[in-house]
Amino acid sequence: MIEILTADELTRARGAGALVGDILQTLKSRATVGVNLLDLDRWTQQMIADAGAESCYVDYAPSFGSGPFGHYVCTAVNDAVLHGMPHDYRLADGDLLTLDLAVTLRGISADAAISFVVGGTPAPEDLAMIATTERALAAGIAAARPGARIGDLSHAIGSVLSAAGYAINLEFGGHGIGSTMHQDPHVANDGRPGRGYKLRPGLLLALEPWVMADTDVLRTDADGWTLRSATGCRTAHSEHTIAITEDGAEILTLPTGRAA
Ligand code: MF3
Ligand code: CO
Repeated sequence: MIEILTADELTRARGAGALVGDILQTLKSRATVGVNLLDLDRWTQQMIADAGAESCYVDYAPSFGSGPFGHYVCTAVNDAVLHGMPHDYRLADGDLLTLDLAVTLRGISADAAISFVVGGTPAPEDLAMIATTERALAAGIAAARPGARIGDLSHAIGSVLSAAGYAINLEFGGHGIGSTMHQDPHVANDGRPGRGYKLRPGLLLALEPWVMADTDVLRTDADGWTLRSATGCRTAHSEHTIAITEDGAEILTLPTGRAA
């Protein structure tokens, strides 16, 4: 189902998006060397509760995971890229960490992800890979406006990723979002312009380019959730929830600068 939000729902979507952006920003500032992924999860649970919001993840049990996720934030380290399940691991200097968070506030959901390097000695290749997913996300957002088609966004995202030399995995990509986290339309991370659903004001989309340094093949961890690169190479992922407006797109999941 494709949802088109009312003006009131869009106002609530802004609140949900700001909360996601602010929690991610707070988690990033706390994700220092020695911090345990389970601490990040616990802090997320607390921040969601303090805001009167609900986790989209804790009870989530889709076909691509085994049972309810049972956690509040996805924490993917180094070769892990999507659906990283928090576990007993302490962050080390140079770890490439992806945090992916979705919450529902006053009935509307927002979803975002950031990748960054922990500690003070980031590998330049990691920074370049992260920057590529951020540029691909920006290109997808720039292509989003009423009348544009999903294929235009997919093409914009995919062009940036392939120009940087990445093979694109099409199994997981962006999606519609609204009263629930995952809705139609699917937004593949590559595609043909001029194809697919035509965007309308009031549509909410989560765009989420992700790459693996030297492969497009995923493998699933023993935990039944965490998806890693088949080769063990490092990975990156950037995601925002955007609203299609009359004259373009509005990013909803930017941090406001307030502590969550
Ligand atoms: N937020 C992820 C996405 O971007 C979905 C995570 S599902 C979880 O679509 F259960 F793993 F948390
Ligand atoms: Co998403």
